Amino acid sequence: MSAAPTARHAAITSVGHFLPETRLTNGDLEEMVETSDEWIRTRTGIEERRILTDDDKATSYMATEAAQEALDKRGLAPDAVDVIVVATVTPDMLFPATACRVQDNLDASNAWGFDLSAACSGFIYALTTGAQFIESGRAETVLVIGADTMSSIVDYTDRTTCILFGDGAGAVLLEADAEAGLHDAVHHVDGEHGDLLRMEGGGSLHPPTHATVDAHMHYLDQAGRQVFKFAVTRMADVCEEVLERNDLSADDVDYLVPHQANQRIIDATAARMGLASDQVMVNIDRYGNTTAATIPLCLFDWEEELQRGDDLILTAFGGGFTWGAAHLTWAYD
Ligand code: ACO
Repeated sequence: MSAAPTARHAAITSVGHFLPETRLTNGDLEEMVETSDEWIRTRTGIEERRILTDDDKATSYMATEAAQEALDKRGLAPDAVDVIVVATVTPDMLFPATACRVQDNLDASNAWGFDLSAACSGFIYALTTGAQFIESGRAETVLVIGADTMSSIVDYTDRTTCILFGDGAGAVLLEADAEAGLHDAVHHVDGEHGDLLRMEGGGSLHPPTHATVDAHMHYLDQAGRQVFKFAVTRMADVCEEVLERNDLSADDVDYLVPHQANQRIIDATAARMGLASDQVMVNIDRYGNTTAATIPLCLFDWEEELQRGDDLILTAFGGGFTWGAAHLTWAYD
């Protein structure tokens, strides 16, 4: 009689990060636009963000640093990597893909890879995508990276958006595990509301011209209040959806790892789930919204507290609209 097939979950086996040195504080922003530290802290929870200031460096640099750290911590050589998925809305350029530049920077000679565009939901979309290569047995080692240089698309004369975003990168390694790892993920898209959060210029619809530059179309544009209303309900709804599908209650959840767009959205989601504040990973105060990097940066910051078997719910909402939630168990102490 043959043995029952062994489950093959995609487990996170290492986390790396990169944050630029330069800090942009609320006080600095007070000098740039009509705002106040008090408004920013009470409306968003943000105190400062990091900004990549080197002219010759971009998203692939931060992604590479984060990936290299994840590999080093795991003691793996770059040629062990089979697939590289980079979630970003700020690629170095439209093509080649940032993943190709990361592959070259790392000298990951056996890897193929691609970029994935899902704005603030990019990391959990990429996690689900990367996990499928592990689950199917097509890959043994996958690098999933969330990296964004938001300062490259933020209009620093627009006080409604420039206070929100920062730069950074986080990377996780995925490897097979019989018990721990990704168990379920729910994703949604609602393209009808794409106009509420977008960067309109630079693509095939509005290629760059003097007119598109003059019209500020190469900057992120957001109808904040309207996006907030969707984010606050959709994020909580999708967390409930993933709990119900997996027959989990709040008591089963050790940590919520929410996308860091606004402290009020995070608090509302945690409250709907019945979680205490010490079960919720928050670093928005220090880094702002780093788009695809927020969730792996949280995992990096909390890594020392996590233990094998801990139940985590990851969740995000972003431009598209895109949103989702994932349930995973942590794989290492
Ligand atoms: N400083 C001072 N006042 C400001 C600022 C500022 N930086 N920005 C806006 N205001 C003013 C507005 O003009 C408005 O004034 P008015 O009442 O006289 O018109 C007032 O403050 C309130 O503005 P709101 O936009 O209603 O403020 P709100 O409480 O909604 O906060 C924010 C704005 C922080 C943008 C919030 O709406 C938000 O977090 N939205 C969701 C963000 C999100 O989740 N995005 C998705 C992920 S990002 C991605 O995918 C790339």
